[in-house]
Amino acid sequence: MQHATVVVSGTKIAQEISSSRSEVWRLIQQLRGLGVDVAGHPATGYQLRSVPDLLLPEILRPLLRGTRFASDVHHFYKIGSTNTAAMTAAADGAPEGSVFLAEEQTAGRGRGANTWQSQRSTGIYCSVILRPMLPPSDVLTLSLAVGLAVQSAIQQVDSRVKPDLKWPNDVLIEGKKVCGILTEMNAEATRVRYIVVGIGVNVNQASFPKELQATSLRLETGSEWSRVELAAALLKSLDREYRQFTENSDARESVVQRFTANSSWILGKKVRIEENGSAFEGTTEGLDARGFLQVRTAHGLQTVLSGTVRER
Ligand code: BTN
Repeated sequence: MQHATVVVSGTKIAQEISSSRSEVWRLIQQLRGLGVDVAGHPATGYQLRSVPDLLLPEILRPLLRGTRFASDVHHFYKIGSTNTAAMTAAADGAPEGSVFLAEEQTAGRGRGANTWQSQRSTGIYCSVILRPMLPPSDVLTLSLAVGLAVQSAIQQVDSRVKPDLKWPNDVLIEGKKVCGILTEMNAEATRVRYIVVGIGVNVNQASFPKELQATSLRLETGSEWSRVELAAALLKSLDREYRQFTENSDARESVVQRFTANSSWILGKKVRIEENGSAFEGTTEGLDARGFLQVRTAHGLQTVLSGTVRER
């Protein structure tokens, strides 16, 4: 990365990493296999043709300076699930602000029993560890704040895009899902031990199976996005929201009010709620103080505790 676009001899690289030229050749082959564009010049050496859009700690750390996410960035070319890795690391004592990023997930997890499609280097697959001094009842509002952070990051990178928020945790463009958030925690009845916030953003995917009702930022804007730029914007935005949430006494009210203002789903939407094997229909009537969705039905006002919200 420090010599991008310059030809560097195999001998020099071997010296720098205290290895042999044949090992350098093997590693270059491995990088090429992962999609890094390295040219080989027989007489002179190797050349990194362009700086790859990989979510490498060396690239992200300087962009995250001043945030809680700058010092513990972990990157995987291939992993089962960054949320699983982060939950394990948190149980082993990893600090608040640890970030787990992957180019590809082989067992990406969504909410409920859903999976998350995580093809190599097309999306952002990111999990962070938080250790807030909060009761578990505040975690729903915190996860709504994560949605606000994602929405704002996408708009910072391209102000033409108008992402919508669907309660509790989907980010949509033109009614199709562009980002999902999976918040998991380990808690006592009165106190959170740690939270892992997993964020999956569809960035440069060229297509999706129709039944997924998903889209990518590239499909919506017609051009490739820099995952590095978006990942940095996202983590900075998350840092701001999290600071406000943990430091301001009126944070919960502010999140409920801003989520309501920035989502087309919270007031006056005709919805069908599928929850624990049953379903009901009604019209949305705001969020309660804890962040739960209120739906006016033929039998009165109902509070949605979990479940899937669909437009009808
Ligand atoms: C959903 O909408 O169902 C939530 C999807 C969350 C996907 C992300 S990708 C990074 C992190 N690792 C996972 O296994 N899941 C989350």
